Amino acid sequence: MTEARAPQVLVGVTGCIAAYKSCEVVRGLQKAGCEVKVVMTEHATRFVDPVTFRSLTHEKVAVGLFDDPSDPIHHISLAEWCDLFLIAPCTANVAAKVACGLADDLLSTTALACAAPLMIAPAMNVHMYEAAPTRENLETLRARGVVVMEADEGYQACGDVGRGRLPEPDAIVARALEVLAGAGTPADAARPVPDMAGLSVVVTAGPTVEPIDAVRYVSNHSSGKMGYALAADAAARGAAVTLISGPVALEAPAGVRVVAVRTAREMLAAAEEACPTADMAVFAAAVADYRPVAPADRKLKKGADDAALAAIELTPNPDVLATIGAAKRPGQVIVGFAAETDDVAANARKKLASKHADLIVANEVGEGRAFGTDENQAILVTAVGDEPLPLMPKPELAHRIWTRALALR
Ligand code: CTP
Repeated sequence: MTEARAPQVLVGVTGCIAAYKSCEVVRGLQKAGCEVKVVMTEHATRFVDPVTFRSLTHEKVAVGLFDDPSDPIHHISLAEWCDLFLIAPCTANVAAKVACGLADDLLSTTALACAAPLMIAPAMNVHMYEAAPTRENLETLRARGVVVMEADEGYQACGDVGRGRLPEPDAIVARALEVLAGAGTPADAARPVPDMAGLSVVVTAGPTVEPIDAVRYVSNHSSGKMGYALAADAAARGAAVTLISGPVALEAPAGVRVVAVRTAREMLAAAEEACPTADMAVFAAAVADYRPVAPADRKLKKGADDAALAAIELTPNPDVLATIGAAKRPGQVIVGFAAETDDVAANARKKLASKHADLIVANEVGEGRAFGTDENQAILVTAVGDEPLPLMPKPELAHRIWTRALALR
């Protein structure tokens, strides 16, 4: 038997102000047990000195194609060394080069030579990110199997506000570990057993948005993280997963079929189509309970439409979980969530009965709790009793939920 070695990640750093965040990416990967080497573009060295990465990795930092006289074909040895090549940040220029197969420096030559999975975390000005050539290059890379993270939205160093920020280092590291786990690399040791192979499951996730007029809507703070973690965990355990998702800023987990919806009624229609043949379904979406009765198909104007804007009439939305729960077939396991501010377990027990669920994941919501965070503390409520769980990362909670649901089959 060969001795297990640490996963080997080559981090590519390109010329962008977010290059300083690559230091945290390197540290995060190392903390997760990876061995890391760094390759930089010439422009990246204007933002962070290679010495910083050399100190972090205790490895020479490669920049030029001919920098290492002891290794005349450096791009090939780096490409063969890594289990994952992660370019973070990846500028518009480098994404374009990789998409076209240009190889005019050590980083791009290594990307072309690399047979290991390639992952990129783009970072650039919002207008460059939204420019047609960049969108097309990123789509080309995705279609080729490159894992392309969506950039974050927010304040940019140039003063603009919009999408184009490098995702947070923690999120990049978490995604890189998922890619390593899915690629059959040494990180495989931590890979879950395929105990859901042969099962078909449905997950609802994210918020729904209910239009008021052509530009406004009623919605909530759901980030979709819990539902996406559930979908990722089930897929990693071998299930065939349909993820019915409201609008979120998350990437589809690998191997998951995503059905994108906007409103509660669209979510119900998608669930009614997918659930009858599913073995298990988890309803993690934060469905808007009400929708405007008569959304305007144009923008309502201040002044002229004051009366309509001040008195938006609402009507209840269908309850997706309760509808599917009522039509449950024998042997099917239905899991719901209960977001509560008071009497968490008692209210969850009521939802268990009223929505015909087999398991309710109850959690307290409020300031900084559950919505948008990376951790969650829940009580698993079933007909036989309550199982309070400690605060844990959402992917871990997702794993515990499926394990409990499997036991109910
Ligand atoms: N749910 C649903 N469709 C709705 C409302 C809720 O599918 N229209 C599902 C959620 O996905 C969750 C569960 O029902 O799994 C409970 O959601 P929650 O928001 O906690 O409860 P509500 O039913 O909306 O009740 P209340 O807001 O009164 O607590």
